[in-house]
Amino acid sequence: MNAFDTALRVQGIVKTFPAVRALDDVSFDVRPGEVHALLGENGAGKSTLMKVLAGMHRPDQGRIFISEEPAILHSPLEAKRLGVVLIHQELSLAEQMSVAENIFLGELPRKNFGMVDWKKLYADAEAILQRLNCDFGPQTRVEDLSIAKKQMVEIARALTVEAKAVIFDEPTASLTDQEKEVLFDVIRDLQAQGVGIVYISHRMEEIFRISNRISVLRDGTYRGTLETVDTNEDEVTRLMIGRSLDTSRGGKVVSTGPVVLKVENLSCGDLFENVSFSVQAGEVLGFYGLVGAGRTAIAEALFGLRRLSQGKVVLNGQEITITSPRHAVEQGLALVPESRKEQGLVLGMSCRDNMTLPQIGNLTTGPFVSNGGEIAIFDRYRDLLSIKTPGWRQLVGNLSGGNQQKIVIGKWLAMRPKVLIVDEPTRGIDVGSKAEIHNLLRELAADGYAVIVISSEMPEILSVSDRIIAMYRGEITREFTADEVTEDNLVQAISGLS
Ligand SMILES: Nc1ncnc2c1ncn2[C@@H]1O[C@H](COP(=O)(O)OP(=O)(O)OP(=O)(O)O)[C@@H](O)[C@H]1O
Ligand SMILES: [Mg+2]
Repeated sequence: MNAFDTALRVQGIVKTFPAVRALDDVSFDVRPGEVHALLGENGAGKSTLMKVLAGMHRPDQGRIFISEEPAILHSPLEAKRLGVVLIHQELSLAEQMSVAENIFLGELPRKNFGMVDWKKLYADAEAILQRLNCDFGPQTRVEDLSIAKKQMVEIARALTVEAKAVIFDEPTASLTDQEKEVLFDVIRDLQAQGVGIVYISHRMEEIFRISNRISVLRDGTYRGTLETVDTNEDEVTRLMIGRSLDTSRGGKVVSTGPVVLKVENLSCGDLFENVSFSVQAGEVLGFYGLVGAGRTAIAEALFGLRRLSQGKVVLNGQEITITSPRHAVEQGLALVPESRKEQGLVLGMSCRDNMTLPQIGNLTTGPFVSNGGEIAIFDRYRDLLSIKTPGWRQLVGNLSGGNQQKIVIGKWLAMRPKVLIVDEPTRGIDVGSKAEIHNLLRELAADGYAVIVISSEMPEILSVSDRIIAMYRGEITREFTADEVTEDNLVQAISGLS
């Protein structure tokens, strides 16, 4: 066990970027063997603080102590050697390399004469993968893995050193429930060995389940630390966003318009089968099910990313065959994808350009793009989605993770599609903005859009949907109206029990 009072401690940290004071006099500590949750709105400074602790950013002011020893960290590798490991919010793997090379990046085991000891490398990596219950081997190339599995490789990296503190920055955002349980076991293991854990997440139920203490950042300032057992979601939320959450449902829709999209007997390989449903203008249709139930595959097929093996798609009374995403967009379909970062953003371009990229066709007058028009669009969606950025020129890569996600959502909304499909709309989004996005989806429906929401979060699906379709293993098991649905019958329907 670690004999020190704190595994990791910071005092008076200040960190500024051009036009942004990301951290303003923040102090914070993690005890050995505790899970310390760090909460705050998108852009509050959580990832920045963690990057300071992990040697990626030098603070402008302030001090860092590891096991009560003052530490000046010049690089992530140095932080790692001193026992502080960060598991990134944005995956930072070398795609072309093997899993084993990634796990031991910068520290590959060497034989005499400096040759890499591949045998040892693979054996050591294999041992760690087994500890994480991974079903892929150490020689697999990272680019061949799913996002969730890449996340497990990130986590595996942390297990290569004798860590004093391990920082998880939104680790569960793309994990299945099963993978999440494996992760929680790993966290409990580390805890039992006296490692201090920092856990960042926007999912309150996780925070209350695994943390011992909760600290809150707001606008780069430290707002306080609470013992998890002595507090509740409401108190934490107020500390985070300065008010209680209004969970009443906004933009109620009573009358709905004509059927906009109707699909009959859609099948796609073994991903889903005989799927039929319709969406009306003015309603939000929710798709609920476990990860892998086929919901995302349906959205991708509608959007021209997958080929249907059977079925009929009717949009505004016309039967259509969608051949590509471009074609889908021309027909008035928009898909806000689940993995927004990978599929939707150019990190080296400005916020405005990312948001108006697919719009350029509409805004062009002759050979010129109307600059004013683009800025107006950007401003509108920045306000609507409360995107935190010093201005439209800021590079998207410099925004916080949650704010990057909002840019992608804004980009699709700005196209004003007839049918808007949103896959996991609030993954990685803070609780305050979450409620705002729910209201926004309801308002879009009230404005006459047909909205399809796919979510794995029960409270989310219950609060936004007028109707809910439950899926289990590629098939629709039940359809509910908002009035008849209950948590119990919904759980039954997605577990194949009803
Ligand atoms: N490299 C950078 N250059 C400029 N600004 C930055 C940079 N990194 C972060 N910022 C800004 O610092 C602030 C804090 O960002 P940070 O990523 O720490 O937020 P966060 O709390 O992790 O949010 P999220 O929940 O969305 O991940 C934001 O305003 C962000 O735009
Ligand atoms: Mg972050």
